[in-house]
Amino acid sequence: MARYEINGGNRLEGTVTISGAKNAAVAILPAALLVEGKCRVENVPDISDVRILLDILSDLGAQVEVEPDGVVVLDCTNIRSTHPNPELVRQMRASYYLMGALLSRFHKANVALPGGCNFASRPIDQHIKGFVALGADVEETEDYVNLTPGPYGLQGNRVSLDVVSVGATMNIIMAACLLPGQTVIENAAKEPHIVDLANFLNTMGAHISGAGTDTVKIRGVEKLVGGTYAIIPDQIEAGTYMAAVAAAGGNVLVQNVIPKHMDCITSKLQEMGARIINYDDSIRIISEGKLKHTTVKTRPYPGFPTDMQAQICVCMTVAQGISRLTESVYETRFFGYCTELASMGADILINGKTAIVSGRGDLTGADVRAHDLRAGAALVIAGLVAKGITRIDNIHFIERGYERMIEKLTSLGVDIKVIEE
Ligand code: UD1
Repeated sequence: MARYEINGGNRLEGTVTISGAKNAAVAILPAALLVEGKCRVENVPDISDVRILLDILSDLGAQVEVEPDGVVVLDCTNIRSTHPNPELVRQMRASYYLMGALLSRFHKANVALPGGCNFASRPIDQHIKGFVALGADVEETEDYVNLTPGPYGLQGNRVSLDVVSVGATMNIIMAACLLPGQTVIENAAKEPHIVDLANFLNTMGAHISGAGTDTVKIRGVEKLVGGTYAIIPDQIEAGTYMAAVAAAGGNVLVQNVIPKHMDCITSKLQEMGARIINYDDSIRIISEGKLKHTTVKTRPYPGFPTDMQAQICVCMTVAQGISRLTESVYETRFFGYCTELASMGADILINGKTAIVSGRGDLTGADVRAHDLRAGAALVIAGLVAKGITRIDNIHFIERGYERMIEKLTSLGVDIKVIEE
């Protein structure tokens, strides 16, 4: 078993380079199943979720070449199965994208229900609603989803989502790509990775418009062909390093970012007292580590991301005064880390959807456990702010979404190492 051990208290100084976006990569790689020909995908993060997906694709018959510097070349021309390895599928959340991609290209899919971070009930009813609207017969068992063409065949249609869902929006985009006719998704999510997926597919020959707004239109095409595409930088990884600097203090250039994607996080950290300067593709953050209290409510993009909830909560625990943090996407998300932060001296009262955080100015090192990816990242920030030693268990959650975190933090002056026991 491996753990992170952090000796807290150092300021963060230097430059950190942000990797390709996890949530874009885990959609774009399965989307390569729609393509007959070679897709060269650049800026792919080397994280465990990506490695699992590549294993799944390879097992289905894709030719997968991993080159240095985040380049993956995929050729899904000769796929031999529409039944991805269930053990691999259950290891991650984004494996649900295999359903939409396989349905569109092969008109059938038999995919195990996804696993991944379990911080809340995470239904896929809106994905299924989309597949049904496109003409699929859906047979759901306790473990599997089996998709086949319904009596009228598969074709484009109008789908109005009941909830704004990132996953359902991307899955329906993929499913519609190769079907005849036009699909219109209403009440679509607008996250940057949705635009990235649409840009990738359009580069390969798809006809998708409106990605990034709440109405996405897909005109089906007969075939997608290969091409080259570079994934956008990871908004949440960048936000995590910014929150770390804000809380611990320091002066860091966060490079390879799209500052526009960071606006909501940037303005919150500024409100808390950090100084932030935007450049074309980088952001400098300067903080004395003395933050002010604030109010945050998570929202779908362009609102404050739920995937930054835990990290901003750590900033609140060391800020002066009482902050309020309201979760409106995944209500039970606080339980993944607030008890752990309490063991480090944080004062957090959870009242339904809202955490009331009484800032204490500091935290104390402790032995804690990551319960999911972002909760784990928040514990790392807590550890580098805290006085003394923090040991974090269950680091496989963190490695699911952060490329070379130890190396990046070490280069910023953090005293962090992996201990194998
Ligand atoms: C994605 C991200 C995750 C992020 C979340 C919200 C990936 C792999 N994961 O997850 O990191 O926290 O977006 O930004 O990209 N819902 C339904 N029915 C559905 C689908 C969703 O009720 O069929 C609800 C969910 O319970 C949640 C809300 O809709 O309350 C948003 O979920 P969604 O955007 O779909 O999240 P994911 O795509 O699973």
